[in-house]
Amino acid sequence: MNWKEIYKRKLVKPEEAVTYIKSGDRVVVGHAAGEPTVLIDAMVANRENYRNVEIVNLVVLGTGEYAKPGMEEYFHENSMFASASTREAIESGRADFTPCFFHEVPKLFRKGYLTVDVALVQVSSPDEHGYCSFGVSNDYTKPAAQYAKVVIAEVNDKMPRTMGDSFIHISDIDYLIETSHKIIELQPPSIGKVEKKIGENCASLIEDGSTLQLGIGAIPEAVLLFLKDKKDLGIHSEMISDGVVELVEAGVITNKMKTLHPGISVVSFLMGTKRLYDFVDNNPSVEMYPVNYVNNPITIMKNYKMVSINSCVQVDIMGQVCSECIGLKQISGVGGQVDFVRGVNMSEDGISIIAIPSTASKGKISKIVSLLDVGAVVTTSRTDVDYIVTEYGIAQLKGKSLRNRARALINIAHPDFIEELKVEFTNRFKSAF
Ligand code: COA
Repeated sequence: MNWKEIYKRKLVKPEEAVTYIKSGDRVVVGHAAGEPTVLIDAMVANRENYRNVEIVNLVVLGTGEYAKPGMEEYFHENSMFASASTREAIESGRADFTPCFFHEVPKLFRKGYLTVDVALVQVSSPDEHGYCSFGVSNDYTKPAAQYAKVVIAEVNDKMPRTMGDSFIHISDIDYLIETSHKIIELQPPSIGKVEKKIGENCASLIEDGSTLQLGIGAIPEAVLLFLKDKKDLGIHSEMISDGVVELVEAGVITNKMKTLHPGISVVSFLMGTKRLYDFVDNNPSVEMYPVNYVNNPITIMKNYKMVSINSCVQVDIMGQVCSECIGLKQISGVGGQVDFVRGVNMSEDGISIIAIPSTASKGKISKIVSLLDVGAVVTTSRTDVDYIVTEYGIAQLKGKSLRNRARALINIAHPDFIEELKVEFTNRFKSAF
């Protein structure tokens, strides 16, 4: 049958589409800028017809109505990356948190550890062959659709058509709705003096020809500001935002030296403004792949001079990195941090950087600590970690004894906390600093 016929047969109204979700189902929902917002709204509106529908997702940029108080009877949020709209639900016990390396999320679906009853996704309009693109969010969304018993898609004519392994054919969608709404945007973060200094320190470690992974937030964005004089940088990153577009346009990011996918920026999802979304639309120089490929350490290690830059909440003086909670409070997730740290470690010439301001809470708390807070988890282990960067300098940890790691880390702590850290050093190592 002609795909246009199939399309017409599968086209339903949002109110009908969500009736194919049944009580007790596990619904994997697309995330970040790719959240299928119209389907989510319809699902929440239809809540009286559900009991105990499990919602699985990562970065929630929407309001997460299904996780709000009063929704417990209908929905149960199971998050793999706590976000502004799901943190409180996790903390108060209404929602669950499932730790997982980002690259392993699709495997959980494939192996049936997390069977996908329904995938709720957002895709672009079909091309002339009947293929829709996953657009700004490929990551676990395409794999969820691949392993789901039922795929319900929001076909948004404003979703950019991204290249790579980023497509689903109309025949693989069970029910679709048509929408035309703006893709969720994330405005560039404000970059202060501290972030700029951190960015400058990180940039000093990046050689011409390097391939970059950049996490989210002010620090990765600040690093980009200091790369304007570099040559032939490449991108292999779980995520990119607007800053990358500027460096492509300035001729700094060329991907020329990449050993894997030369000439191409390889990404799994995008969070930025319309500028970024317009840039990737039908652009063969950017390819989007599922996260089990992009974030697999075996893929990452194949890149020449791979540099990963991520951030954390706390690092102790042994180099144990907590990136996802404040004490027992889950504020984010593992995401791709360990995937990239390990992939880089496995490569011949890469470096992994954890970049942080030296303090939090307006200077009241040191992020470099003697011991992690009670309840805090180790996201990146002391054995995996290599560079820690603050506005006060660079600590390179691999190959260093615990004593010398502590010295290197205390040397880049905020001056207000150095004396107390030195006392801890003396107690721990029975020697003068
Ligand atoms: N003690 C107490 N609170 C702290 C703290 C500390 N040591 N460090 C940070 N915080 C607080 C901040 O004050 C802020 O609170 P607020 O939201 O009430 O203002 C909050 O924690 C977030 O900190 P901030 O520095 O604004 O976060 P960020 O946007 O730079 O993100 C991480 C930092 C660590 C949360 C983020 O990088 C992350 O989730 N990393 C793990 C996943 C990852 O690395 N993925 C990589 C690919 S995207």
